[in-house]
Amino acid sequence: MTQQKAWRAAIVHCIADPKEVGVDAAYEYFEDGLLVVEGDKIQALGDATSLLKDLPDSLLVEHHPNALITPGFIDTHIHYPQTDMIGSYGEQLLTWLNTYTFPEESKFHDKQHARNVADRFLAELLRNGTTTALVFGTVHKVSVEAFFEASQVHNLRMICGKVMMDRNAPDYLTDTPESSYQESKELIETWHNKGRLHYAITPRFAPTSSDEQLALAGKLLSEYQDVYLHTHLSENKDECAWVQELFPHSQNYLDVYDQNHLLSERSVFAHGIHLCEHEYQRLHDTGSAISFCPTSNLFIGSGLFNLNKAEEHKVNVGLGTDVGGGTSFSMLQTMNEAYKVIQLQNENLNPIKSLYLSTLGGAKALRLEDKIGNLAIGSEADFLLLDKKATPLLTSRLALSKNIEETLFVFMTIGDDRAIQATYSAGQCVHQRDSF
Ligand code: GUN
Ligand code: ZN
Repeated sequence: MTQQKAWRAAIVHCIADPKEVGVDAAYEYFEDGLLVVEGDKIQALGDATSLLKDLPDSLLVEHHPNALITPGFIDTHIHYPQTDMIGSYGEQLLTWLNTYTFPEESKFHDKQHARNVADRFLAELLRNGTTTALVFGTVHKVSVEAFFEASQVHNLRMICGKVMMDRNAPDYLTDTPESSYQESKELIETWHNKGRLHYAITPRFAPTSSDEQLALAGKLLSEYQDVYLHTHLSENKDECAWVQELFPHSQNYLDVYDQNHLLSERSVFAHGIHLCEHEYQRLHDTGSAISFCPTSNLFIGSGLFNLNKAEEHKVNVGLGTDVGGGTSFSMLQTMNEAYKVIQLQNENLNPIKSLYLSTLGGAKALRLEDKIGNLAIGSEADFLLLDKKATPLLTSRLALSKNIEETLFVFMTIGDDRAIQATYSAGQCVHQRDSF
């Protein structure tokens, strides 16, 4: 018999996009809620007193009066091989890549090194409440094998792919169109849809792939209906100018990918800062998504993501940390910086919208909303306990909070890994803050 267990606490989750239904209709909140889990799935969600009436007395209930339960966070863009180079000083994208990133990524030809970093990377994600991520490997096939093997240990829903990169990078980090096609294919055959794992075809970005390689990436995407496409798009002005030089026959940056049939319902483009109307329209028409990466966009000086424009064109958007360009594994801190990026454009990012972007919105961007992203009955039991008394400042500030929107906003402004009391993946505890 599968085990049934319940968690009693305040509970909040999104059920729709606030942009579509308005803030109030976009979430459910239970001040004294109960989340019932059977095996790896959510069996019931609601008000604790009324639900408990119909449940057996023998049901194991963990009561957390100081906690707020939310779905696990979804990070729609991150590089696991860049874990140890987070906080690298002083450069913008193209020099940052050459100075710090490529030398660091060269270490991942060694599977033992890759596994060591993958283990620490996943521990860091879980400490921060992230239960699903769309993850870059390196050009080395073993980097992806190590990542998937590490993810399997915790039964995490994770998406990863081998970087395809055949030019404009050091020789020690390049593949060829044929080898990248073949190795990606082998990885898809072995790992895609194995348990909770999925594969993403991962050309790094247009400048580091030849037309031939991008065409083969498109061929792969057409050969496997439900694999992902994960790359970068229009992050930095110099990058955009370089793409125009390298691909003179493309109408714009996105068109390079479009011409190679890389836009799809499972295509996720990181950044998308400097886009024209036509690019937003094509992203919408093809059901592609953008990953908004505020800490990275500020840290490497790339620019301000225009969420309004993406919403106007009904483009799917998720939130990403983009570590190591990004400066934090914490999705709470990523929401903090997202708020500031939107402030600088004279708009307000509502806390329910931020919660949406980092949970259900991320799941929708990844086409996984039937499995993760909220606490609907039948969903996979990926959830968090946020501790309202995690720090003295959280304790005093939250004591003055008047409603759940304010509570969420405080968590996402001054909260970080310390606020994550516990993280659950498929009903199992994968991080407990206070375990010694
Ligand atoms: N564009 C191409 N590669 C990268 C990378 O590793 N990080 C970021 N932020 N942008 C990129
Ligand atoms: Zn990135």
